[in-house]
Amino acid sequence: MSSVGVVGAGYVGLTTAACLAHLGHDVVCGDLDADRVRTLNQGEIPILEEGLDDLVVEGLGSGRLRFALGAAAAVTDAEFVFLCVATPQGSDGQADLSAIDTAAREIAPVLAPASVVLNKSTVPVGTTERVDRIMREAGAVTDIGVASNPEFLREGTAVRDFLHPSRVVIGTDDSAVGVRISELYAGVNAPVLVTDPASAEMIKYASNAFLATKISFVNAIANVCEAVNADVREVVLGMGYDPRIGFEFLHPGPGWGGSCFPKDTAALLRTADEAGYDFALLRGAVTANDEQRDRMVTKVRDACGGTLAGARVAIWGLTFKANTDDLRDSPAVAIAAILAEEGAVLRAYDPSAGDAAAGLPGLEVVADAYEACTDAQVLVVLTEWDEFRWLDFERVAASMSRAEVVDARNLLDPAAMRHIGFTYRGVGR
Ligand code: UGA
Repeated sequence: MSSVGVVGAGYVGLTTAACLAHLGHDVVCGDLDADRVRTLNQGEIPILEEGLDDLVVEGLGSGRLRFALGAAAAVTDAEFVFLCVATPQGSDGQADLSAIDTAAREIAPVLAPASVVLNKSTVPVGTTERVDRIMREAGAVTDIGVASNPEFLREGTAVRDFLHPSRVVIGTDDSAVGVRISELYAGVNAPVLVTDPASAEMIKYASNAFLATKISFVNAIANVCEAVNADVREVVLGMGYDPRIGFEFLHPGPGWGGSCFPKDTAALLRTADEAGYDFALLRGAVTANDEQRDRMVTKVRDACGGTLAGARVAIWGLTFKANTDDLRDSPAVAIAAILAEEGAVLRAYDPSAGDAAAGLPGLEVVADAYEACTDAQVLVVLTEWDEFRWLDFERVAASMSRAEVVDARNLLDPAAMRHIGFTYRGVGR
């Protein structure tokens, strides 16, 4: 078993640290936020992520996991160091690498001889080399190894995705380093791909851009289905049986969001641009995504009789998808903002968004799905929380001033809703 330092206790860092401890490694996870470090050491985790709290408690209990203040404290004596810091979108569309640079400078002087630094943050091609250079300039010992090790974790299923991944990608020019990292992942049953750093970095962007394009494609198909009276759900079923297409990531909706796809597609477009390649296909996927949000607004406007001014609208779901408490780049929040701008009076319910949602401008957040609907003209379902399926829709209809529903996630059963008296509008059906 190895000693591991993880820099950053956000979604990726925390999941990486807790899962590696679960696999038997000795892990110290460092973060800049003293409050976060203190509460994590007490076993309280700041995010909603299925199974993560159990693994943190397990790691603290076994002594294989602890949290420390700052990057240097986490990596001293570690054989493997994971960089898991934020790379938000910079003003030019490209990823902002300042947190990576700072972490590299901070850890360089305390790295143990022969340690390996792995970058898990999503970074443009060339960053592995950049981290290597910064660390050497900042006084790192000469025999360290540096590698790219992109993550493919989805929020909500991050623990499962870490422990049972579709693949492990390792980008390094040093084959001995590649072998050592593969051994670190020995407890994980997945194909391991050892490649050069640039290809590893590109795999991450290409994967996210492909998935985003796949969703934009199915959203476009849904829009055509609406025009020709076809049902996109049947169409997707018929497509998905072809193993070359598959069923996953073919759910039409209000457009993709979250902390990854918008930022990573923008960064890849920027990279292509800098390389002199016009990536029109990806640009089209991004434009289609923006338009999808507008189409949802149009559906709500239509349901309100042509104008949103003064219309009372109930919203179910604010997070960027179900089973997370993350509001970053959420299509639901963006759509709510447009509805509010056009004068709608919004009352929203989300099972997990909590205090962050309470601070959103232009809407009142209530603690109950039924309460959100009281006197509303239209109910809009923006996030696919399972619990929304099982509510008492007779009660919902009775409390609304008109029984109109815009189901931007195709979560509800149109026939059952119509039977109750709702006018139902879905996506592509
Ligand atoms: C995404 C990728 O799926 C992960 O593999 C990757 O590691 C991660 O980004 C990252 O780069 O860190 P995540 O952002 O957590 O994960 O969420 P997804 O489940 O991919 O969903 C992204 C967006 O697409 C959401 O707004 C979701 O509602 C939407 N979506 C997804 C659809 O509209 N339809 C679908 O069929 C699937």
